[in-house]
Amino acid sequence: MMSHVRLIPILALAAPITAQSPAVQLIPRPASVTARGDLWRLPDTLRISTNRPAAKPAAALLLELLRSEHARPARNATRGQIRFVIGSGAAADESYTLTVGVDGIVITAPSLSGLRWGAQSARQLIVGATDGTTSGVEIRDRPRYEWRGAMLDVGRHWFPVADVLRWIDAMARYKLNVFHWHLSDDQGWRLAISRYPRLTSIGAWRDESADLEVGGFYTQADVRRVVAYAAARGITVVPEIEMPGHSRAALAAYPILGCTGEALPVPTGWGVFDDVLCPTEATFTFLEGVLTEVLQLFPSRNIHIGGDEVPKRRWKECAECQAIIAREKLGDDEGLQRWFTARIAAWLQTHGRRMIGWDEILNGGAPAGAIVQAWQGSNRIALALAAGSDVIASPAEWTYVNRSASPRELPLDRIVRFDPASPPNGKARVLGGEAPLWTERVVSPANVEMMYFPRLIGFAEAIWSGPADPGAFRVRLAPEQERLGRQGIAFGPADADLTSLMIRYDTTSHRLRLGQTNLITGIAAVVFRDGNPIAADTSGALFAQEGRFTLQLRRGVDAIGESRTVTVADHLGRNRPVTFATPPDPRYPGTGAYTLTDGARGTVFADGLWNGWQGPDLDAIIDLGSSLSLHEISISLLEEVRSWILYPSSVRVQLSGDGSQWRDGGTVALNVPTTSDGRSRRLVTVALPAGTAARWVRVVATNPGRLPAWHPGAGSPSWIFADEILVH
Ligand code: ACM
Ligand code: ZN
Repeated sequence: MMSHVRLIPILALAAPITAQSPAVQLIPRPASVTARGDLWRLPDTLRISTNRPAAKPAAALLLELLRSEHARPARNATRGQIRFVIGSGAAADESYTLTVGVDGIVITAPSLSGLRWGAQSARQLIVGATDGTTSGVEIRDRPRYEWRGAMLDVGRHWFPVADVLRWIDAMARYKLNVFHWHLSDDQGWRLAISRYPRLTSIGAWRDESADLEVGGFYTQADVRRVVAYAAARGITVVPEIEMPGHSRAALAAYPILGCTGEALPVPTGWGVFDDVLCPTEATFTFLEGVLTEVLQLFPSRNIHIGGDEVPKRRWKECAECQAIIAREKLGDDEGLQRWFTARIAAWLQTHGRRMIGWDEILNGGAPAGAIVQAWQGSNRIALALAAGSDVIASPAEWTYVNRSASPRELPLDRIVRFDPASPPNGKARVLGGEAPLWTERVVSPANVEMMYFPRLIGFAEAIWSGPADPGAFRVRLAPEQERLGRQGIAFGPADADLTSLMIRYDTTSHRLRLGQTNLITGIAAVVFRDGNPIAADTSGALFAQEGRFTLQLRRGVDAIGESRTVTVADHLGRNRPVTFATPPDPRYPGTGAYTLTDGARGTVFADGLWNGWQGPDLDAIIDLGSSLSLHEISISLLEEVRSWILYPSSVRVQLSGDGSQWRDGGTVALNVPTTSDGRSRRLVTVALPAGTAARWVRVVATNPGRLPAWHPGAGSPSWIFADEILVH
């Protein structure tokens, strides 16, 4: 069998604990539902009417929604079975009342916002009326929080406008009202700015390999289309332009904006980079130019400027930064970021907007009037409130849907219990919450959907209605999920890893095997050998040959997750047993006991092919089985400095004919890195004297010690990583 297929659990039907009548199963659950005892028999053609022109956009929306669902024919009319009645309340009032009776549906609301949510409830009721009837009810509904957001990172991977529109429609279906569009990051700038064309001609593209450029951007016409589509659904698009960190794409386009002026490429790796914007007057001119165009495109009152994860290394070494610190009496580099952020906040305020920043803007006191998006843990919510800031709650452990849905990470049952409430402090409030999707490892539209859904629906339930009972929620979710699926949305599992592709060493056959677990229907591995597609084979025959293998999970033509590359090469130590002075860290078991002699070499530390040690040396002995004539020993090592993985300070080889008496084979010294951007692999080779023969080979890779003073993890023990010892 090719794969283990794990289906979404079949839901046992239990009595819902909500106030909804059994026939009314809306998501999110309304504030109150009262059964009337009667029934509406839907006519063949639905007629939709309004009391006043101000209600017409809600009628137009419902018409469009019903058409997109192929529910049943519907048209506007002066007298309809579906009637929108608008009052004269404030636009911010999102409440609505929806009554189903023998004559049809009446939706009443003080404002258009409420009517739109009423239209979404009507959509769910009509599409769910599979027997042609809907029971009589009176629904009174309003959201618990005014800020109900979903964030999409298009910086790490870009996604087409058509997909973005589909996700916005799905968000609106569940009454989310903020689409937070993370438009710039280190690995890509996605928003066309006419003043600064290099942002997208250079900053939107990265070279993943010699012949693969990855990227994309949105034109200003694209943005207007997205903003208008969202607005018609009651969704505000909040743009995020990252500053002063996560700006490598902008720096690639305009190196003058950085502290060193050095021309650096748009990076391909993930993490936090040292090079950030240098807050000179030229940089403020640039940022204000960018923001001027942003404000023209996005009517949102609130504008997100990022502000998270800003290493201070370049600022410490920069004469201009130090001069600003002295001139403005800012004390230190944290003071410099506080000053930078306050200046941007003031500029936005002058232009009638309000700044949002990630909770790092709290360091040293948040700028007055700014909204803090708390992500680093629930205590940051309390901290922001104590500082007098309004808060958007996005604690990663409750809301980051880029995390896997497995029980250890963020399963559906956890997200539906999310409750951002914290005790209020003065006038500061929790405005609501957001579920962010970071896309380092999310590479296709289908992949986005499987991470968002169904968990985003659970998030919408928690933030509109309050925390839910997971069992009852799943009962309501099952039919709704099927309907959303018919709208072309791909679902991931609610409580398991989306996909898992692993390579394991079979100690009986002494072969590498391809394994897949937790897969959902329709996902399959595609394997390329030296660039040519071949049939995937779990028996291990795949890896019996030498070559470069690329493994990619796909759903149809869509890639799911990042691809993985494995290079398989023969050598005299292949399939020979290894013993360690200190076993590898259990978090990095590689392919098993034969990781260093399985013939396979990987690419990045998360690809499952590496053994790692944090602190101890790698000290390994390979038994070749008999005395062999040897000329060199190599070890394949990884450096990912931002992930605390350094090269060993030296690699030493010893040889033995009896396994107890050792003679020296040679030593190679390596350098400690000087930049946290270091990310490479190396084959370190010790050449042996002519005529060497031995049965046992010992390799000692010396741990370089604690992370250097400039490293964000300074003082912690370094990791060393190896995936093969090659004996020739
Ligand atoms: C973040 O996750 N760096 C906001
Ligand atoms: Zn500087």
